[in-house]
Amino acid sequence: MSKLKVAVIGCGSIAQHRHLVEYKNNPNVEIVAVCDIVEERVKEAAGKYHAKAYTSYEKLLASEQIDAVSVCLPNYLHAPVSIAALRAGNHVLCEKPMATSREEAAQMIAAATENNKKLMIGHNQRFVSSHTKARKLIAEGEIGKVYSFRTAFGHGGPEGWSAEGKESWFFKKEEAFIGAMGDLGVHKADLLRYLLGEEFSNVAAFIETSAKDDTDVDDNAVFILRSKSGVIGTLAASWAYNAKEDNSTVIYGEKGIIRLEDDPTYGMIVNYTNGETVKYELGKIQSNEDGGQTNTHVIDHFVESILQNKQPLIDGEEGKKSLEVILAAMESDKTKQITSIEG
Ligand SMILES: NC(=O)c1ccc[n+]([C@@H]2O[C@H](COP(=O)([O-])OP(=O)(O)OC[C@H]3O[C@@H](n4cnc5c(N)ncnc54)[C@H](O)[C@@H]3O)[C@@H](O)[C@H]2O)c1
Repeated sequence: MSKLKVAVIGCGSIAQHRHLVEYKNNPNVEIVAVCDIVEERVKEAAGKYHAKAYTSYEKLLASEQIDAVSVCLPNYLHAPVSIAALRAGNHVLCEKPMATSREEAAQMIAAATENNKKLMIGHNQRFVSSHTKARKLIAEGEIGKVYSFRTAFGHGGPEGWSAEGKESWFFKKEEAFIGAMGDLGVHKADLLRYLLGEEFSNVAAFIETSAKDDTDVDDNAVFILRSKSGVIGTLAASWAYNAKEDNSTVIYGEKGIIRLEDDPTYGMIVNYTNGETVKYELGKIQSNEDGGQTNTHVIDHFVESILQNKQPLIDGEEGKKSLEVILAAMESDKTKQITSIEG
């Protein structure tokens, strides 16, 4: 079987820590080309992965015979570059948040459909072993009726992560569109939809820029969410959890409580109503603190969905639904009303 020819557009941190490494480790893939506007960065990536370097994604798409593209760019470029790549006949794995508006997200989905190509969004939280296990337990009724949840994703901010450090696009509204909500909150919106196996109907939100100077995006956000069946809970996203990252989720059910990524050793702990406790030692969650080095399974899943012609788990529609939660929360904060979530 000939190898899948891929290109990675954007050679910053997520490309270096995950996409390039995981494509390299996938025996069915050949990294053909890489692109970044920072010449030194793209040359380094090209050298390391024996790929051709481009500083223009348009040029790359016009010149290379490729099958698939990873879009690892600042948020405002997700839609235009994904659409260009889909129209050029490539499958696309785009980083999250999917887009900066529902219109852009819809255009990406349309471009994938019209060109009969896969579109996947990089919501890696769904592949974390504790999360997949919890989804199964909840679906099987292990904790009975689910009543409530709380989830949080916070760290000290992306300055220590982004290739651009303190000057990063992450802090600029024109390029990022949203801050902690897009970096972290949308991951948990997607995770909760996946764990509960249903959609949210309403949100009330408080969104602040309170911790960082020199930014016009949010750095602290708390949402109260209600699902269609009436499960209620909170989602917090923050760039002000300075002392330590929090990546935890707790699901409260009739017969038990599932604690996810809330303990350094056990990825999942289930406290049963009958007094029993079961602790699961599972594969580690990806974290900025360890340089994001664990396998996310995102790339392997994307490659498999192309090779086996299967719809990816997080396709464009799924990415859009998770984005809708954030868009409705922004509306709620602006209007000081509880808002409905589309989709
Ligand atoms: N799935 C996850 O857990 C996760 C984690 C971190 C970041 N991300 C997402 O990945 C994306 C990239 O984030 P990052 O952390 O790698 O940021 P980064 O700042 O480290 O890298 C961004 C790169 O894009 C390059 N770039 C900017 N404009 C370009 C253009 N027009 N053409 C080519 N290259 C261009 C920059 O030079 C930089 O190298 C973001 O959407 C972010 O939300 C996802």
